[in-house]
Amino acid sequence: MGDSSSIAAPSTDRLEGKVVIVTGGASGIGESTTHLFWKNGAKVVIADIQDELGQAISDKLGENVCYIHCDASNEEEVINLVDTTVAKFGHLDVMFNNAGILDRPYGSILDTTKLDLERVLRVNVVGSFLGAKHATRVMVPHRKGCILFTASCDNWVYQ
Ligand SMILES: NC(=O)c1ccc[n+]([C@@H]2O[C@H](COP(=O)([O-])OP(=O)(O)OC[C@H]3O[C@@H](n4cnc5c(N)ncnc54)[C@H](O)[C@@H]3O)[C@@H](O)[C@H]2O)c1
Repeated sequence: MGDSSSIAAPSTDRLEGKVVIVTGGASGIGESTTHLFWKNGAKVVIADIQDELGQAISDKLGENVCYIHCDASNEEEVINLVDTTVAKFGHLDVMFNNAGILDRPYGSILDTTKLDLERVLRVNVVGSFLGAKHATRVMVPHRKGCILFTASCDNWVYQ
């Protein structure tokens, strides 16, 4: 689904005029979601730390998609992401907090350090909070907007 080579242009205008941010949009679920929003006519901002991948997707899809480097756990970068999106496209309709990491799936709790856990929480939890907070900041004046999250129930299940 993430392969854009066969996609020439948006196929429906269902989301025409909508502006969407997808964090973690350079690969996986976020990349697929970026394509889906774009195919339905939305303008999409890919926010990620994989600059080459994110920029390549943006280059392929054209003027309705752009890439902004943003570490989802860094509040200054999240502020810049949201403010740059609004400056470029006028408003923000959908914030998809999808960026996440899973460093060592299903390892033993005995091998896991506090730093491991803090790193995952910083991106997956604090990052989602920051995305939601700053999206809310620009959505409330318009009294509309949609904030989405990718969740997981099994990231830290130990054997
Ligand atoms: N794939 C699964 O089976 C699964 C299951 C449960 C939950 N999830 C969650 O879904 C989300 C997407 O996962 P995926 O499977 O597409 O993984 P993925 O690794 O393909 O994509 C995650 C994206 O997030 C980006 N990212 C990582 N840290 C970041 C940061 N600090 N700031 C900005 N971007 C960052 C990565 O560069 C990558 O592009 C994650 O939150 C993950 O925890 C995935």
